[in-house]
Amino acid sequence: MTNEKIMVLDFGGQYNQLIARRVRECNVYSEVYPHTITLEQIRQIAPKGIIFTGGPNSVYEESSPKYSREIFSLGIPVLGICYGSQLIAFLEDGDVSSAPVSEYGHTDIEVDDPEDLLLYGVSAHTVAWMSHTDYISGLPEGFHVTAHSEVCPVAAMSCPGRKIYAVQFHPEVMHTPEGKTMLSNFVYRICGCKGEWKMDSFVSASIETLKKKIGSGRALCALSGGVDSSVAAVLLSKAIGKQLTCVFVDHGLLRKSEGDEVEAVFGPDGPYELNFIRVNASQRYYEKLKGVTEPEQKRKIIGEEFIRIFEEEARRIGAVDFLVQGTIYPDVIESGLGKSAVIKSHHNVGGLPSVVDFKEIIEPLRLLFKDEVRRVGLELGIPAQLVWRQPFPGPGLGVRIVGEITPEKVRIVQEADAIFREEIAGAGLENGLGQYFAALSNMHSVGVMGDFRTYDYAVVLRAVNTSDFMTADAAQIPWNVLSKVTTRIVNEVKGVNRVLYDCTGKPPATIELE
Ligand code: XMP
Repeated sequence: MTNEKIMVLDFGGQYNQLIARRVRECNVYSEVYPHTITLEQIRQIAPKGIIFTGGPNSVYEESSPKYSREIFSLGIPVLGICYGSQLIAFLEDGDVSSAPVSEYGHTDIEVDDPEDLLLYGVSAHTVAWMSHTDYISGLPEGFHVTAHSEVCPVAAMSCPGRKIYAVQFHPEVMHTPEGKTMLSNFVYRICGCKGEWKMDSFVSASIETLKKKIGSGRALCALSGGVDSSVAAVLLSKAIGKQLTCVFVDHGLLRKSEGDEVEAVFGPDGPYELNFIRVNASQRYYEKLKGVTEPEQKRKIIGEEFIRIFEEEARRIGAVDFLVQGTIYPDVIESGLGKSAVIKSHHNVGGLPSVVDFKEIIEPLRLLFKDEVRRVGLELGIPAQLVWRQPFPGPGLGVRIVGEITPEKVRIVQEADAIFREEIAGAGLENGLGQYFAALSNMHSVGVMGDFRTYDYAVVLRAVNTSDFMTADAAQIPWNVLSKVTTRIVNEVKGVNRVLYDCTGKPPATIELE
């Protein structure tokens, strides 16, 4: 695929994944490694460059994460960011101390050495994102200052002879407008990378690897219709065709027409060669969920039923050699760096591996970020509406219907949601929103339609802006759009006489209602 790799050495900073992403955006492959990796392991991996990340500690604390200074004798270029820059200074006998004032946020930076390879092409007066309380107060021997700020005499330093570079600020965040130039300078001008990491080469190399690994074996994939499992399934289908079986469980809690859309793409009339099994299990789910109102109990029932159905299908298919999962890189990082081969119990299909008889797990996307998965999806010719699908929770509409789930409530929320999505798309707002959907409150209220009193449900519209789904703000949807959606929902969806907009952020609310 590519032999060029930039190693991001993790010292606990909050932007570590982002560094790897930014490097990959330069078409150079990058992976995050724990700072506990040994020198020997680094030698074996043979990265073209190493980036020390930021981190919350002070280098002069005994217990702070460090690395042996021998790393500089490997002859591999090093870039230190924030804590990483202070660590370089510390290891090279420079001085690091508490800054007279902390710098946080946009900071004016003056470039002192325009010929510096890291800062090559960066404006003489630029802006960078700072977030530090310590700073480099004394240069190590052999280094020179390449940039400074009002507070930081050493906002950047370098030792070009040994290819060691350091920046006190964060080039990886968007708030450092010329940060991308600096990272690109590091990987190309300093590390001498060629830029071989491209999605088309990932696709062809993955297909070859999968073919070799699976041989004539059989693979099984739980397909949810979400982007990760869809891309994994198509990649596998290109590699092994009919040796792959995909099981798609329609639990009756999908968005309107979603089951048919998934079947159109992956079923026998779709473009891919694979065995596709759609299990229409709505009745089974509605039975199990009858009378259940407690959110966690609902989630549990939905998850467990999924496993039971998958198990039944797997038994019917017989022994399989490989189980395919759509695990992606952030899942891998979040499940703990350095802990090898922890099989992630998939968010959507919790516990699956323990109940299905197979020899090995295949995770073809485990090195990719979400945006890369989408690029692979497009590269593989998966329809754009599927590739760009917004996140949809495993328990589906089950967590968007407050209280007991009934087929009637599912119909209401499906229809209302379809109208909301249609109008958001019609107004050209879909790309600007993190997630948006209709949900159903458990509230009945009095209304009047024609000359008659009604006592119907209230639909809740929810739209949020978020980058990580951990926190979110309620989106400010233009009033005319909300008003049109409201009119359409009360006119077109039987059983609804009121539409409410959820203005709550996360926290204190969550994105889903349950
Ligand atoms: P909350 O409601 O926790 O949602 O603010 C955060 C994000 O996670 C999605 N979500 C889920 N995704 N299985 C999933 O695959 C789940 O059980 C689940 N619950 C919430 C939610 O849609 C949002 O994007």
